Amino acid sequence: MAYNLLKGKKGIIFGALDEKSIAWKAALKCYEEGAQLVLTNAPVALRMGTINKLSEICGNAPVIGADVTNVDDLKNLIEKSMEHFGGGIDFILHSVGMGLNVRKGKPYTELNYDWNQKTFDISSVSLHKVLKTCWELDALNEHASVVALTYIAAQRVFPSYNEMADAKALLESITRMFGYYYGERKKVRVNTISQSPTPTTAGSGVQGFDSFLSYAEKMSPLGNAPAEACADYIAVMFSDLTRYVTMQNLFHDGGFSFTGVTDKVLNAMKPDA
Ligand SMILES: NC(=O)c1ccc[n+]([C@@H]2O[C@H](COP(=O)([O-])OP(=O)(O)OC[C@H]3O[C@@H](n4cnc5c(N)ncnc54)[C@H](O)[C@@H]3O)[C@@H](O)[C@H]2O)c1
Repeated sequence: MAYNLLKGKKGIIFGALDEKSIAWKAALKCYEEGAQLVLTNAPVALRMGTINKLSEICGNAPVIGADVTNVDDLKNLIEKSMEHFGGGIDFILHSVGMGLNVRKGKPYTELNYDWNQKTFDISSVSLHKVLKTCWELDALNEHASVVALTYIAAQRVFPSYNEMADAKALLESITRMFGYYYGERKKVRVNTISQSPTPTTAGSGVQGFDSFLSYAEKMSPLGNAPAEACADYIAVMFSDLTRYVTMQNLFHDGGFSFTGVTDKVLNAMKPDA
């Protein structure tokens, strides 16, 4: 059901790789709620071509390639988006992440630091780059809303999340810091949504992901939050209904973050008779 929550709003969605991507579902939801969109991903991801299908569904939204670590790409993206929209931007979804050590199977205690720098650049500093580019071009409208996606490994240890735990902690810090400056300057909100484990390309890259998923399911009173529900939450955060929420890390995890233990987990832990 649509509520026209984003009627007249214009926004950029980063990170829709395929139909499983959280950003893909978010784009569908934002479009359904009346928004006009620009879609972007890394040039290498665009070559896979699936994003064109999303663009068609979303009223032929322009697809503009940008590597989030490349400031020139981001400048081009923001400028072209403003041209397309005929003015400023109302919302941005940063749904981007990549752990090079994770991908290459390097354990946390043996990190390759060149890869680690690249991980931080793609997964965390990129949010700063996006916001700084918008700041310099004065691209965001008053009360614009920026959301980035994160995971609870920023607060608590999940060993297989590896260097991405540190990347998410940095992402959440940039959210608070830039949220302060952009709030003061233009009442722009910046928040992270901390999502349940979700079966996507990035998610499945975590070692032992299936066990991770089923543990979180048993530890969440509401069960794991699906990507579609995350898309709903993102749309609400882009709407005018959340104009005074900023610099927050918002858990969207079925209650996982505040649960000590559940009966389901206790039952699974019963010592052998
Ligand atoms: N899937 C989960 O379990 C889960 C849980 C919590 C948070 N998140 C976060 O959600 C976000 C989206 O991930 P997803 O699960 O939808 O997976 P996904 O693999 O569909 O999305 C990740 C995206 O990042 C893009 N990307 C990677 N490097 C890039 C670069 N240099 N420039 C531009 N884009 C680049 C990829 O092309 C891809 O579209 C990530 O930040 C992820 O960490 C995921």
